[in-house]
Amino acid sequence: VEWTKEERYKRLEEIPAEQYQALLEETTQSKWRQHFHIQPPTGLLNDPNGFVYHEGLYHLFYQWFPLGPVHGLKYWYHVTSSDLVSFESHGPVIIPDTKYDSHGAYSGSGIVQDNRVKLVYTGNHRDSDWQRIPYQIVAALESDKVTKKTIIEGPAPGYTSHFRDPKVWYENGYYYIVIGAQRTNSTGTIVIYESDDFNDWRFKGELGTEYNEFGYMWECPDYFELDGQDVVLFCPQGIEKSGDQFNNTYQSGYLIGDLDKETFRMEHGEFTELDNGFDFYAPQTTLGANGERILFGWMGLPDTDYPTDAENWAHCLTIPRVLSVENGRLRQRPLPALEKMRGAVETAEGYAMKHNIKLHPYEGSCYELIVDVLENESTEFYIELRVSKKESTRLIYNRADKRFTLDRFDSGALSEKVEGFTRSVVLEEDLTKLQIFVDESSIEIFLNNGEKVMTSRIFPRKDATGIRTSTESGQVYFKFTKYDLT
Ligand code: FRU
Repeated sequence: VEWTKEERYKRLEEIPAEQYQALLEETTQSKWRQHFHIQPPTGLLNDPNGFVYHEGLYHLFYQWFPLGPVHGLKYWYHVTSSDLVSFESHGPVIIPDTKYDSHGAYSGSGIVQDNRVKLVYTGNHRDSDWQRIPYQIVAALESDKVTKKTIIEGPAPGYTSHFRDPKVWYENGYYYIVIGAQRTNSTGTIVIYESDDFNDWRFKGELGTEYNEFGYMWECPDYFELDGQDVVLFCPQGIEKSGDQFNNTYQSGYLIGDLDKETFRMEHGEFTELDNGFDFYAPQTTLGANGERILFGWMGLPDTDYPTDAENWAHCLTIPRVLSVENGRLRQRPLPALEKMRGAVETAEGYAMKHNIKLHPYEGSCYELIVDVLENESTEFYIELRVSKKESTRLIYNRADKRFTLDRFDSGALSEKVEGFTRSVVLEEDLTKLQIFVDESSIEIFLNNGEKVMTSRIFPRKDATGIRTSTESGQVYFKFTKYDLT
């Protein structure tokens, strides 16, 4: 169904309470509602925003269009948590109610400044000719209300109106903001602003990389120092698929190296995708309670249709991951506190062979599964999850190629405008460990202790709960540990 401009820009405050109630009920009844992921009460969720830790509490927000599964007028929906395992909802906190954010309170980040949570975001304004004008706005948060102040008007000279998603940080007496931008020659980049008082912001130029012509727009930049290295995250749009890489509509990846804070030039390695699954975009990080670097991503992509659209809602966030740099590469592990979700445990150990082995009574639709690969003499092994007579989500590991594949061909309902049924990644080490989080409509697979991650929505039927393993030829000795997460 096509939504008209008028429908997309309808305000939550304007619709009758009964109409919103009906939407809420429709969403609640969905067969694909998640159990342990952040998801919108109604409508569409996209990027995580404003992620910050302050006085024992994590604040996390997300891009939200309340009225349906489309990218309409965006609000910031607020949740808080002391552990990032259970969350309290506070509803929409940044409302697009000024001239500067009249067409959406777009993405941005959070910081503690003057002992208060400050949110820096892009106000999306459109003029009477529907021309976009981006404003960068600071919103000071106080008991679920914000006071707004515009700090940067329009794009800097040399850039188009695709100029958004500020990420702010503090370092050596200065505040910095990186912004995702499009040059007037239609290439993507990141620009930097600097301030010493959080009021006056000076344009410092571009964050210089080797990727001068790499897509037409870079969204959602992030910068941080980790394990003695500088890390830059961004989401380039317009990158061609190349073998197993860059198969999704838009990409989300990182550069690691050394960023010179005088010239803002960065020496760095290759751009690497953060996630090798079907549904991952626009991640954001912050420093956690123990000084760890924690990331949430949007488990979805723009310009894609999802099966829940028919139920009038869409998307969720990923589980939180802790980042580290090891041997020049980023590793991502599930936040340790997630172990608190673990319920009943079952373990099983044994050989998987050419014939399908059904692990029984091993089953479920909401669990954490740890698979230790203790001996592997197979050519290829298969682990199938969310299995019913007709459905199965297949994980495939080819030993000679060290190539791991997620196959959604028989997973159930599928997203549309998505290229292919599989995503694959080649590992550096033999696959010895998988840690898999399965929720009602998603799967997040951590390979070899966070060497690679694959995140995907899947839309099986409720009765698709089986788990089985087999090989193409040769045998594998597995140890399975499964925790219920219900
Ligand atoms: C990324 C993005 C951002 C923008 C926001 C709008 O998904 O397009 O660039 O700020 O979503 O919702």
